[in-house]
Amino acid sequence: MHIQILGSAAGGGFPQWNCNCANCDGFRKGTLNAQARTQSSIAVSADGERWVLFNASPDIRAQLAAFAPMQPARAVRDTGIHAIVLMDSQIDHTTGLLMLREGCPHQVYCTARVHKDLSQSFPIFTMLSHWNGGLTHHPIAVDQFLNPFEIAGIDDLEFIALPILSSAPPYSPHRLDPHPGDNIAVLIRDTRTGKSLFYAPGLRDIDAALTQVMAEADCLLVDGTLWREDEMAFMGVGDKLGVHMGHLPQSGDGGMIQFLEPLTKPRKILIHINNTNPILIEDSPERAVLDAKGIEVAFDGMQVQL
Ligand code: MLT
Ligand code: MN
Ligand code: ZN
Repeated sequence: MHIQILGSAAGGGFPQWNCNCANCDGFRKGTLNAQARTQSSIAVSADGERWVLFNASPDIRAQLAAFAPMQPARAVRDTGIHAIVLMDSQIDHTTGLLMLREGCPHQVYCTARVHKDLSQSFPIFTMLSHWNGGLTHHPIAVDQFLNPFEIAGIDDLEFIALPILSSAPPYSPHRLDPHPGDNIAVLIRDTRTGKSLFYAPGLRDIDAALTQVMAEADCLLVDGTLWREDEMAFMGVGDKLGVHMGHLPQSGDGGMIQFLEPLTKPRKILIHINNTNPILIEDSPERAVLDAKGIEVAFDGMQVQL
């Protein structure tokens, strides 16, 4: 299985257009050892030709341009995107659908709750119905813990959705009333090799059942949004805590590092990094902590083969 990191930053990207936090400002001034990052999306393929896009970021045009297999040029109008899976209805994961309108119809896999947000509060499904068939919704059920779903035309990959606790977007009527299906994680297994990827760009709570799934995966691409629970206040850019945004910070008691440390099987990679996070600075003490523990930080253009 080929895994392409199209965008490794959280909402806003890095640097964020209106942000002068120490990271964004330092990056612009060239005083930090760090790379720019676009917003959260990956693409996965078994054959290197038919790609499943996980999330459609506002930066999708640049992301597609930066990865040649996304334009195979087999016809006068063409794309390497075979289907799209949405992990939630967050703006950084869905706005790119609007940029893909010229290629409608698209096959979009998401939960009923995500489909509802994207039909009512942020009605992308409704709007795009005016573009050549728009978006075809393929429901992902979350009524059982390990729910396999098929993507037509993708033969060698198995997809399993897991309802997880993170957060619905600020615009959603159920932002403060979380339900299974607001956010999912996905386990993608290559049936030829048996190797699996666990992908969860938004993840706040990891219970015992989820821990077992993650411990058995070959690679984890998980929520790397925040280093500290109070990072927004610490960096002087806001007052929301990790818990309000549905993201588990890396540091501290019960943090992501402590959770990942005992897992011996999977390769561990953090993704969806917020622009305030010190792990973006390649020679920061926080990055050294991750290095020492064998935890990697995703970057745009990163490739993983499983
Ligand atoms: C998040 O992951 O918390 C959201 O994407 C943030 C946002 O859209 O601003
Ligand atoms: Mn996000
Ligand atoms: Zn910033």
